[in-house]
Amino acid sequence: MRILIVGTGYVGTTTGLVFCEMGHQVTGLDLDENKIKALQAGKLHFYEPGLDELLSKHVTAQHIEFTKKTKKAVKENDIIFICVGTPQGADGSADLTYVKNVAHSIGKYMNKYKIIVTKSTVPVGTAELVTKWIKEGQEEQVPFDVVSNPEFLREGSALQDALNPDRIVIGSTSETARAIIREMYRGFHCPIVETNPNASEMIKYAANSFLAMKISFINELARLCDGLSININDVSTGIGLDTRIGPQFLRAGMGYGGSCFPKDVNALIQIAKESGQPLSILESVVQVNEEQTIFFIEKIKQTLGGNLLNKKIAVLGLSFKANTDDTRESPSLHLIDRLLAEQVQVRVHDPVVKIAAGPSIVQFQKVEETVAGADALVIGTDWDEYKNLDWVRIKQLMNQPILFDGRNMLDKRKIENLGFHYWGIANH
Ligand code: UDX
Repeated sequence: MRILIVGTGYVGTTTGLVFCEMGHQVTGLDLDENKIKALQAGKLHFYEPGLDELLSKHVTAQHIEFTKKTKKAVKENDIIFICVGTPQGADGSADLTYVKNVAHSIGKYMNKYKIIVTKSTVPVGTAELVTKWIKEGQEEQVPFDVVSNPEFLREGSALQDALNPDRIVIGSTSETARAIIREMYRGFHCPIVETNPNASEMIKYAANSFLAMKISFINELARLCDGLSININDVSTGIGLDTRIGPQFLRAGMGYGGSCFPKDVNALIQIAKESGQPLSILESVVQVNEEQTIFFIEKIKQTLGGNLLNKKIAVLGLSFKANTDDTRESPSLHLIDRLLAEQVQVRVHDPVVKIAAGPSIVQFQKVEETVAGADALVIGTDWDEYKNLDWVRIKQLMNQPILFDGRNMLDKRKIENLGFHYWGIANH
């Protein structure tokens, strides 16, 4: 089957390559010339483990091509996946401008029956809007169906997630379109949930909101456990082994970030408000998440004598989580903003992310340089390489050996035995 992927970001590129793996012929369309040029040369324009090898394999084998030419791409393909961004708008709801533009172009250039699939996370009712927008763009009436087929992959493990999904959700009012999309996923060994587009769109928001809720739950509980000297990691293990709860997304830390959870939870809150059925539980999820950075910084302040003015603090990790170069809504960056507001001299390191230096913030290539002369060290992102640093050397280089582990990733006893003052989030 000939598939067109519109939008070659994380979701679009990964989805396209996974379809190549399943034996389909794929075209990736994007208006950004730089992205297209890079992809045509077999180079990823973002960091995602394992994806670059797959890209160069399928570009070389000509299973995938990339183009800027919308008209030709729409005409030549029968199944069109919309994978463009749906950023957060001013009121918290999702901004559908890109989706709308794509739908108009599809309508304009459509010459025969096509299935248009929304993969981007979109509010309930978007499939109906896409149908309307396509019709608006059409110069003559051509039949088409709109299907919702949300993507659940995570950055950092995009390929594994997309190749081995827990489930596939297909929301369609057309039996023909549903059967064709089901057929496209024939090689996948997981349950397929078939429903209507509205429910499918809700499933994606509900899944992300539920996971964000698990994180906020454990983070708020961690604050309580911190005061009670209870190890939150043991609590997570203890409750996570209950199969009704499950072990995942119970890691206490500096709060959730990224391009999805913050945006999607807010969007669902907005949908609920507009429907006159507010979701107070999700409003608390957001509040707890915002408070988590404040809780963390208060701990740093207390430990450093109540005032951070002109202190030197080294922060390891800038991305919102390990194995990605994405810094959108990164808890580490939120923390750095607050440190800068307290007039801290911030020294940062990240294995892949580069940020602009400022009057009070400097980035270093090596961890050793970053920690030199620091009054405290903060782990902001759970990059694996921070687990096995030369802590003896780091202690020698720091002004004072104080370590705040925002990801609860270090062995407290081991670090303390080396003479560090260690604090993790209820990591007792
Ligand atoms: C998420 C969803 O998991 C994915 O299904 C959806 O398609 C997109 O949004 P992603 O944002 O890539 O994926 O990352 P994820 O691994 O879910 O982590 C999100 C945030 O939660 C990160 O900041 C992470 O550090 C944090 N997190 C995750 C925790 O703080 N604790 C946990 O136990 C798990």
